[in-house]
Amino acid sequence: MADGAPGMKDVAAVAGVSIGTVSNVLNRPQLVSEATRQRVREAIVELGFVRNETARQLRAGSSRTIAYVVMDAANPFFNDVARGVEEAARAEGVAVYLCNSNQDVVREREYLERLREQRVQGVLITPIDPTGMPSLGMPVVLVDCHAVDDTQCSVAVDDVLGGELAVTHLLETGHERIAFVGGPTTVQQVSDRYQGARQATAVWPRSTELMRLETEALTVAEGRRAGERLVGLPASQRPTAAFCANDLLALGLLQAMTRQGLSVPADLAVVGYDDIEFAEAAAVPLTSVRQPRELLGRTAARLLFEEAADDGTHVHQQVRFRPELVVRASTRVPRRVS
Ligand code: RIB
Repeated sequence: MADGAPGMKDVAAVAGVSIGTVSNVLNRPQLVSEATRQRVREAIVELGFVRNETARQLRAGSSRTIAYVVMDAANPFFNDVARGVEEAARAEGVAVYLCNSNQDVVREREYLERLREQRVQGVLITPIDPTGMPSLGMPVVLVDCHAVDDTQCSVAVDDVLGGELAVTHLLETGHERIAFVGGPTTVQQVSDRYQGARQATAVWPRSTELMRLETEALTVAEGRRAGERLVGLPASQRPTAAFCANDLLALGLLQAMTRQGLSVPADLAVVGYDDIEFAEAAAVPLTSVRQPRELLGRTAARLLFEEAADDGTHVHQQVRFRPELVVRASTRVPRRVS
């Protein structure tokens, strides 16, 4: 017992097996008979043995952990994606570090350096600015963000199509002056959704106006501020509908409209993005562009484990899921009573 705590050597002695057999029971139990596994497990309980992960990590050169660096831990979207990551990681016997960059690039880089020191198997990240990502010398899979080329894996949704679906729906329900609420523009997801909104208005057969309200972040508070700006416009200039770059902005906008005594959708129709649980539960159920959040997480984690296995068969993939428009009361045109 090196530091007084029982080690693998002590477990092997009590169980009457080799140290290698103890290691197999812990790491490759399928190689050991059930009877031997049982004897080793009984010795572990009897001695109160706890494996030394730091020592194992030093020997193996990498840990049995991965990390997911999210942009905003307060956004339920990332919790849903992380649930998918964790589900896939548990199946591999791997733990997940969750790091929150809080839309701060300096903080994001600090976490990436720390994770490299920790020798995690790989990193999943929703980067604040994908063009500025440093090379980490380990597998990195982009989540909710498209890789710029095939030298890296990424898993995301076609956000341009998502923006088109949202604004085409508003145009089809009779809106011709529409606000796009979202920012900052450096966030790829925001710029793609805005591009989709512009594409939808560009092909619409009638004259339309797409007004852009840039926000400093993708949060409820910024959505409230955008709502206050919209309400402050003269009625003749005020849009009749708003497409928000994510659901948190849309929920903030809903709140501002309600506080100002305005009605959704009668005074302003609102569409969000992600379809988080609170979208359906909102006071006025929110129309939203659904992202397959847990599937994004599971798929990204699978790609990361494939790349980390490093058996020479991994080919980088840039997975692009199709978004889905979920229509609810925040845009539904009231039935005309005949
Ligand atoms: O990842 C950037 C944004 O896109 C997040 O706020 C999330 O809502 C996703 O839609």
